[in-house]
Parts: sequence; structure tokens; C-alpha cells
Amino acid sequence: MKKIVIAIDGHSSCGKSTTAKLVAAELGYAYIDTGAMYRAVTLYLLENNIGFDDLARIEQALQQMHIAFKRNRRTGRNELCLDGVIREDEIREMRISNLVSEVSVIPAVRHELVRQQQRMGRKRGVVMDGRDIGTTVFPDAEVKLFMTADTYTRALRRQQELADKGENIPLDDIVANLTKRDHIDSTRAESPLRRASDAILLDTSHITIDEQVDFVLERVSAALFAHAVQLTGNTPQGH
Ligand code: DC
Repeated sequence: MKKIVIAIDGHSSCGKSTTAKLVAAELGYAYIDTGAMYRAVTLYLLENNIGFDDLARIEQALQQMHIAFKRNRRTGRNELCLDGVIREDEIREMRISNLVSEVSVIPAVRHELVRQQQRMGRKRGVVMDGRDIGTTVFPDAEVKLFMTADTYTRALRRQQELADKGENIPLDDIVANLTKRDHIDSTRAESPLRRASDAILLDTSHITIDEQVDFVLERVSAALFAHAVQLTGNTPQGH
């Protein structure tokens, strides 16, 4: 069966990654969390004392650092590896969330990560979540979603996620972080967060994860069906 690219963009903490992971598992596709890659670059720059305005060292660092995803057989999770070491927990900490938007506005960082993401998805069969997948990384993705939810709902979800990992953060701080990131992500010059004209808008404020997954899977079926019709000129059997 044809393999497609599913692009899931949208605001922080509105269920993109949970939905993307479950959709990928259902289809047997790879899941690529592009936000984790921007977080990894942020961690690398911090650990190597590279200023966010030191473009020469940033460009050098981008060539040196190695970002990959490794599947954890025990949990089934795809974990981010930076230079061969799993850094999944550190990249999710608040200290990284507070700085990642500043790193993701740097054009050299975006160019390099977009290049790597395009390579990861070149054989298709991927679900990729981020901010610019449907507009910049895979403008030809067969299924494009743009997910959003109200800020309060997103902040509560994020607070719970952090609490599950032992980090207890006041709700106000999380609201401030989400609002600031939304602003930086949507107003940056290079591939800002925006809905592609052909992306389907999905507001997840009042729907469950199962409903989100079903919604995406229906779109996938429709895209595959349209492709089969186009290929054969006939309606596939069973429809
Ligand atoms: O999805 P996330 O919250 O882990 O993403 C972290 C940050 O990375 C987010 O604030 C914006 C940036 N990002 C981006 O600029 N482009 C992407 N494709 C994914 C994330």
C-alpha cells in the first residue's frame, strides 16, 4: 500500500505528539517529534556554553552534534539521542522549554533541522509533528492537520505531564511559557507557525485523545482512497 506523510502542526501542548505517536503505531509508520530536535539543539548549546548569538560556533556545533531517535524496546517509546546518549528527560525540562523558542528562530538551526527531517521522511511512511511540517518540511504531505486548544486546557495538560516526571510547576508559569512560545513561534521570520492553507483545523479543547486519533485515521483512509482511485481510475473494491 502507498505510504504517505502525515504532518501534524500546531501550538504547544495541544496533544500533537500523543496523537501522532498513536497514529504512527496504528499505521506501522515512524513517528518523528521535530520539537525534540529543537530541544536537543538547545541542550547542546547550553552544555557547550555557546551563546545563541554566536553564529559561527552554532554553525560548527550543528555539523558536530548528532541527533537521532532510538526506540526503547521496554517502553516502545522513541527517545531522543544526542551524540549517542538518550536525553529524553532533560530536553523536556522547563529550563529547556524556556529557551527553545529562542533557538528555533535561528535560521541556521532551522535549515539544518529541516534538512535532517526531510531526509528522515524521504521514504514516506512517517507521522511528523512540529510547527512547520505542512508548510516547509513536507508541503506535499498527503494529510495535514493543524491542532490547537485553548491556553488553559493546554497549560493543565502540560502541568500534568511535568508532574508525572516529578517537576511541579505553578500553572501561571506554564501559561506564561506557552503564551511566550506561541508568540515567538508565530512571529519569527523563518517558517513561522501558521496553518497551511490545505491543513485541516482540529481544536482539541473538548475532545479525547481517542477522538483525535480517529479523526486523523479517517483523513488517512480518505487520502489513501483518493490515491487508489487516482491510480486505477476505479473505485477500489469494498467501497
Ligand atoms: O513541540 P515542542 O513544544 O516540543 O517544541 C519545542 C519548540 O521547538 C517550540 O516552542 C517551537 C520549536 N519548534 C519549531 O520551531 N519547529 C518545529 N517543527 C518544532 C518545534
